[in-house]
Amino acid sequence: MKVTLVAAVAVNRVIGNRDELPWHIPEDMRFFRTATMGKAIIMGRKTFDSIGKALDGRKNIVLTRDVDWKHPGVTVVHTVQDALAEATTWIPADPYNPYGAAHEAVVIGGAEIYTLFMPHATNLTLTEVHLNPVGDAFFPKLRLGEWDRVETARVFGTPTTPSYRRSVSRRRKLTPIAVKTLESPTGRIKFPPPKHTDATSYRNI
Ligand SMILES: NC(=O)c1ccc[n+]([C@@H]2O[C@H](COP(=O)([O-])OP(=O)(O)OC[C@H]3O[C@@H](n4cnc5c(N)ncnc54)[C@H](OP(=O)(O)O)[C@@H]3O)[C@@H](O)[C@H]2O)c1
Repeated sequence: MKVTLVAAVAVNRVIGNRDELPWHIPEDMRFFRTATMGKAIIMGRKTFDSIGKALDGRKNIVLTRDVDWKHPGVTVVHTVQDALAEATTWIPADPYNPYGAAHEAVVIGGAEIYTLFMPHATNLTLTEVHLNPVGDAFFPKLRLGEWDRVETARVFGTPTTPSYRRSVSRRRKLTPIAVKTLESPTGRIKFPPPKHTDATSYRNI
């Protein structure tokens, strides 16, 4: 299952301030539309409220703990598993949909939801904004070595927009030894126990 996190992130990992984006980058809004069109998008209730309506041409899935919350055009879910199930079983109405979106979940924020879905993410599409704005919502820290950046493009700023870099990353496939390391409670690689435990036999290896 492909799970893509799409986010615009500042150098200090800020993604939002007082329920708004700290910047206005029209090209990024257009990019967001293209990157999500025809797909199932998963968002937190606060992000939905800041958008204010269901986004057209996409299946809108909103996570909330409020069992009474509803909104026209929105599929409401209360767990990560239900959100992923709704997204990945959704078949776009148009069978010739050029975006071929089925079986992919696109997570569009905000901070709580990115953190919640990060363990499930297979892909990241980031707009890395060259700003250090004040903010109260942050993108989770990425663990070094878990991601391979497969595409990157720089966009220079203008008098009204900051410069930024667009990047696409894929979760690195883990080798069996790395999986063992992650599974180990100490985070250390466990080697198989030695056949001989006396010091002499080690010296002779
Ligand atoms: N830069 C970007 O790319 C980007 C993208 C999206 C959003 N943003 C920004 O991010 C900020 C919003 O982020 P946020 O972290 O405050 O809010 P959020 O992640 O959008 O939504 C949080 C809400 O999601 C629901 N939720 C969270 N965990 C849940 C769980 N385990 N089970 C069920 N429901 C759960 C809760 O809704 P209830 O309270 O209803 O229970 C919670 O209040 C805004 O500033 C926005 O502008 C930035």
